[in-house]
Amino acid sequence: MRITFRIQRFNPEVDRHPHMEDYHLPVWRGMTVLDGLLAIKNTLDGTLALRYSCRSAICGSCAMFINGRERLACRTAVRKMLERSTLIEVMPLTNMRVVKDLVVDMSPFWGKVRAITPWLTKSESTPYRDVSTRAQQVLPRSSDVFQNVDACIMCGACVAACTTHAVSPEFLGPAALAKAARFIADPREPESSKTWRLRELNRPHGLWDCTRCQYCVEVCPKDVKPMEAIIRLRRAAIDRGLTSDGGARHITGFAELIYRDGRLNEAIMPLKVVGFHPARLLHILPLGLKMWLKGKIPSPFGHRLPEITRIRRIFKARQTSQETPS
Ligand code: SF4
Ligand code: SF4
Ligand code: FES
Repeated sequence: MRITFRIQRFNPEVDRHPHMEDYHLPVWRGMTVLDGLLAIKNTLDGTLALRYSCRSAICGSCAMFINGRERLACRTAVRKMLERSTLIEVMPLTNMRVVKDLVVDMSPFWGKVRAITPWLTKSESTPYRDVSTRAQQVLPRSSDVFQNVDACIMCGACVAACTTHAVSPEFLGPAALAKAARFIADPREPESSKTWRLRELNRPHGLWDCTRCQYCVEVCPKDVKPMEAIIRLRRAAIDRGLTSDGGARHITGFAELIYRDGRLNEAIMPLKVVGFHPARLLHILPLGLKMWLKGKIPSPFGHRLPEITRIRRIFKARQTSQETPS
C-alpha cells in the first residue's frame, strides 16, 4: 500500500507564500508520521526542513499540524490517520512564525515561559541559589501536588491551538501558565512569592485572557490540562484578593448576586464587572441602552428566590470545607 503525504513547504529565501507538495511512500507496519517525513527527507527531497530529536514523545520538538490537529509526529501512527483520511496532511504549528517548511520560531514561546520565573524563589523574584537546602527537599506525593503540570514537554501544541493566542499574541499562553501553576502548588515556594507571582500573572494578557475554549486540553499529548491549571491560578488569585481584572470581578460579582438573591441579575452584573469606572461605564452604555430598549434588562431590584437560605447554606458549606484542613 502507498500513501500520499501532502506537506506545506515554505522557504523564505525563495518563496513568497507557502505551498503544498505531494510525496508518495509505501506504508510499513508501525510507521509514524515522523517516520514518513524522515523517509521523504532521506529518499525523495533532502531540502525538507523539520525538527525532531527523541522519536519517543519526550523532547517535544516534533509538534506539527497533522490532519487538522496539533500532534506529535513521532507519536502519530499513519494507520490511525488513514482510518479517517486517504492522505496525511502536514503543516507547521499555527500561531508561530514559520522559519522553514515545518520548523517554527519557538523563541516567543520560550520568552513567555521565562516570563513566569520558572524556578523556585526564596523571596519575591529572588532565584533560589542555595540548592543544598529547601529546593532539594523531596516532595511527598509530588504528582498529586502538581496535578500533572510537571509532565509538560514544552512542545507548543497548546499554544498553536489556543484561540486567545490567535487574536492576542501577547497572551502568556497555556504552557507558560500551566508552568506557573506548578510553582503556586509547590509547598517549597514561600507564600509571599506565590502572591507576587499571582500579582504578575494578574496583569493584562495574563491569566484572565483565557476564554476556556478547551483546545489546549484536547491537543496536549501529555494530559497536562493547561486550562484547568489556569482555573486553579484564577482561584488562587481571587483567594488572595487579586480581583482588579474584569474576569475576576465577573466571578466575584456573580457569586455575590447568587448569595444575595439566589439568581443572576443582568441589570447589576455589568456594573459589578466594570465597577464604577467612568470610562468603562461609558464604553458599555450603548450596549446597555440597546438592551434596555429591547426589554432585555430586568429590574435591578429583581425578586429574591424564596429558598435563598438553602442556597446560602451551599456557600457556607464551601467556606467550611476550605477552612477544614484535609
Ligand atoms: S482554554 Fe484558554 S489557554 Fe486553553 S486554548 Fe482555550 S483560550 Fe487558550
Ligand atoms: S502543556 Fe501539553 S501541549 Fe502545551 S507545551 Fe506542555 S505538553 Fe505541549
Ligand atoms: S521527536 Fe521528541 S517528541 Fe517527537
